[in-house]
Amino acid sequence: MDIKRNDETPFSVELKFHVLVVGDPPVEHAVRMCFTKHFESIDLFCTDSGTTAFDSFSKKTPDLIVLDMESRRTHALKFLSAFFKSGEQCNIIAIAEKPSIEDVVKCVRMGVNEFIAANPNSQKLRECLSGFFLKWEKKKNGAIFQADQQNTFDLHNIISGCPQMQVVMDIVQKIIKRPVVTVLLQGETGTGKEVIARCLHYGTHKNETSPFVEVNCSAIPENLLEAELFGYEKGAFTDAKFSKKGLFELADGGTLFLDEIGDMHLLLQAKLLKAIEEKKIRRLGGLKDISVNTRIIAATNADLEKLVENSSFRKDLYYRLSVINIYLPLLQERGEDILELAKFFLEKHSATYALPVRKLSPAAEQFIQQYDWPGNVRELQYVIERVVVLGESTVIELAELKSALCIKEQDIQKQHKTANGWERAIGIPRGGLSLKDSEMYLIAEILKMTKGNKTHASKILGISRPRLNRKIEEYSISLG
Ligand SMILES: Nc1ncnc2c1ncn2[C@@H]1O[C@H](COP(=O)(O)OP(=O)(O)OP(=O)(O)O)[C@@H](O)[C@H]1O
Ligand SMILES: [Mg+2]
Repeated sequence: MDIKRNDETPFSVELKFHVLVVGDPPVEHAVRMCFTKHFESIDLFCTDSGTTAFDSFSKKTPDLIVLDMESRRTHALKFLSAFFKSGEQCNIIAIAEKPSIEDVVKCVRMGVNEFIAANPNSQKLRECLSGFFLKWEKKKNGAIFQADQQNTFDLHNIISGCPQMQVVMDIVQKIIKRPVVTVLLQGETGTGKEVIARCLHYGTHKNETSPFVEVNCSAIPENLLEAELFGYEKGAFTDAKFSKKGLFELADGGTLFLDEIGDMHLLLQAKLLKAIEEKKIRRLGGLKDISVNTRIIAATNADLEKLVENSSFRKDLYYRLSVINIYLPLLQERGEDILELAKFFLEKHSATYALPVRKLSPAAEQFIQQYDWPGNVRELQYVIERVVVLGESTVIELAELKSALCIKEQDIQKQHKTANGWERAIGIPRGGLSLKDSEMYLIAEILKMTKGNKTHASKILGISRPRLNRKIEEYSISLG
């Protein structure tokens, strides 16, 4: 089975455990019997001649070879020496009921993994074969997971047609090609920070099983986070009964995704900065430094600049992290992408629940594009999922969408009332006012009212501070 990453680059995972038996039919039968529970995952090939066995390698290197050293001793030895000369690598088991010590030593020296001195129908062979099969199965499941993740987080599956997302994707593509040490992802909740972090990771580590280790800095108590990140040696503190690797070490060769970095304690921030700069960590209670080749991707929906101003986030760490600073736009700023995303989620959830894909009515489409989506892409995704699960008709009408969003008619009327109030407060000129100008005017007025206090102004305006900063820059509003 091929697990496709996209149309151009199939990422294939081998789904059969290939076993080669060099021996007589009774050994082949015994091996086959050991795999009765997993017969669908096994591809077994048997030969009684060393030469034929060796020829089969040009087609496929097996995952495991079983050598019958009892009845096919000469062939098995000939095969072994040819095999190791060829430079191929594979797990090999040799079996003989009463082997000579000389044969056992010879086989083990040549590189045979296990020599089983027992009858082919013995429990020993069953246990040994099942051990190799389980190891292979674990590896295969890991590879399937990796292929699946690579597919989900492939750049082609990220809806990013609007100009703001194009800016994001241009940076992403550049850092995939030139992996840099740190990336900072900023944006409000549900805008796709984690999606981008995973895209970066799977894009950089194509077709390899490098670890993506994720930690939410706000979910772990301060004192435990340090031990989680850096690990500890036995006896480092009362409960440290064993040594433990930290997440930095576990993410070696891959990515450590530090979510909600704004909530990390100042002392730990200093340790993190040191680890990033020196590419080394020291476990708690440890005496030696451990080199780590781990890329840090940090994410936050907090206003880091403000945290720096308040001295609750280290300036030096902020500068270190924001060498590559990616800002994820709000869903309401993404123009045509909003509808694209809605359709994408419609197809995705319909497929998950094995339901036909329903269409959005023109009014529902218009509403999706105009609604402000405070929970961003995540909220849109959940609403569409609710509609897919609960709806029945072929067309999704506006009322159904609103009910999935739990919007009541009174709320909409309330919004209208407030709008009328603003009309008077702003004082619309006779010739009218464009939406853009009114936004600029409103922001400037609120800033005047708050005497340039951006935090206060962003609260009144109901937007985040980073968003207010971008608007101030966009409209060149002076704070003086
Ligand atoms: N451009 C996109 N294309 C497709 N799906 C997306 C996109 N952006 C986000 N999503 C989906 O939206 C959901 C929320 O994204 P994600 O978890 O990355 O947000 P976040 O910014 O990390 O949010 P939070 O700050 O709350 O942790 C996910 O289910 C993700 O699959
Ligand atoms: Mg997140």
